[in-house]
Amino acid sequence: MAALDPDTFSYVNDVLHIEGVSLADIAAAVGTPAYAYSKAGISRAVARLQDAFTHSQLDIHYAVKANSNLAILRLMSELGTGFDIVSGGELSRVLAAGGDPATVIFSGVGKSVEEIDFALKVGIECFNVESAGELARISERAAILGQEAAVSLRVNPDVDAQTHPYISTGLKQNKFGVPLEQALELYQQAAEDPQLRIVGIDCHIGSQINQIEPLLEALSSILQVVDELQSMGITLEHIDLGGGMGVTYEDETPLDIEAYGASVHQIMAHRPQRLVLEPGRSLVANAGVLLTRVEYLKPALGDAPSFAVVDAAMNDLIRPALYQAWHDVHSVNNEADAQTQRWDIVGPVCETGDFLAKDRELALVDGSLLAVASAGAYGMVQASNYNTRGRACEVLVDGDNFSLVRRRETVQDQLRLELDTAWTQAGEHS
Ligand code: LLP
Repeated sequence: MAALDPDTFSYVNDVLHIEGVSLADIAAAVGTPAYAYSKAGISRAVARLQDAFTHSQLDIHYAVKANSNLAILRLMSELGTGFDIVSGGELSRVLAAGGDPATVIFSGVGKSVEEIDFALKVGIECFNVESAGELARISERAAILGQEAAVSLRVNPDVDAQTHPYISTGLKQNKFGVPLEQALELYQQAAEDPQLRIVGIDCHIGSQINQIEPLLEALSSILQVVDELQSMGITLEHIDLGGGMGVTYEDETPLDIEAYGASVHQIMAHRPQRLVLEPGRSLVANAGVLLTRVEYLKPALGDAPSFAVVDAAMNDLIRPALYQAWHDVHSVNNEADAQTQRWDIVGPVCETGDFLAKDRELALVDGSLLAVASAGAYGMVQASNYNTRGRACEVLVDGDNFSLVRRRETVQDQLRLELDTAWTQAGEHS
């Protein structure tokens, strides 16, 4: 069962279950496509990280972008994590979920004036600053609001994370962070600015990283900056190592979190700084599935592939189309009467790139229910309304119970935004 975590998913009487709940029962109750997440699976992932990183002061800031459903954010708060956000919208989500703004770190290259003001007003923990221009803007906004802003520089260590180019962030040709060469100068500038309080340093070199070496290489670059800052009289409170920890989708050996934690501990043990992590994927990816039903089977004519057209599409889960990502696909029910054969699992969207999986051996009949694995991270959050498809609903499972934590989007939800608008005369807004 490649990517289906056996502690969370199991076949009971030939039906795939998530914790104690049948995925067939969830589909019957809420329809498909639907995302289903396991509370226990997420809780175990958080506990594993806490156990692996034995640094005396560890702060996990969950990267909201991976899965921002309010129920997941509420769960993260209960589990004691803070949050890493990249937009004012994500900050609103954290607040709506009852999260403490004082545990929020704000990353991202394009923070607007409105977003900075919002973050200052609610009192976030700190900004991960990604450019000289942003540092100047934060200082200016803090002055206008009569506040002091806590800042940490996101340094780009120019390390190859050996991951998909679209999700690599720590190379100098990537738009993220401040080049190492510029970091000291900006810290000096921040130290002299009465509106700014320097609290830390940050890096994030990419996502779905399965090797420890690039992560440790980045840490070593960051620590050199920390030491140089110390000699300049600037003492940091925390060192933020980003996220990036990889998981199993197919047959990858995922990052050895315990070995990574032990290495970091060895390197950091004598340092006074708190250790901050910003994990997203590793906490939620394998605790979730996307449930989808076969609409039509189009068996091959000649040597063409056989297509199973399902009711989920690239607008629901774009990772296969965007990153050539591989997601495991499982039949929820054992279709005893069907022959096993190879299928391309495709959606209803009018694009050849609309596929969830290719060439998978499955026994399918019309109406078969499928679970697309490892869909808890970067699934629903990247969903769109392409082809005016409503976004899927989401369910959170806890033991033998489940609850609908986001209802299915209706076409009225989509049309409302356009029906409410009105034409304005040219120049009316100038
Ligand atoms: N912190 C920052 C500043 C980030 O940019 C990211 C992810 C994270 C934390 C969380 O990283 P994680 O632990 O999840 O690797 N949509 C892509 C992934 C993009 C990740 C971008 N940044 C995907 O579906 O693979």
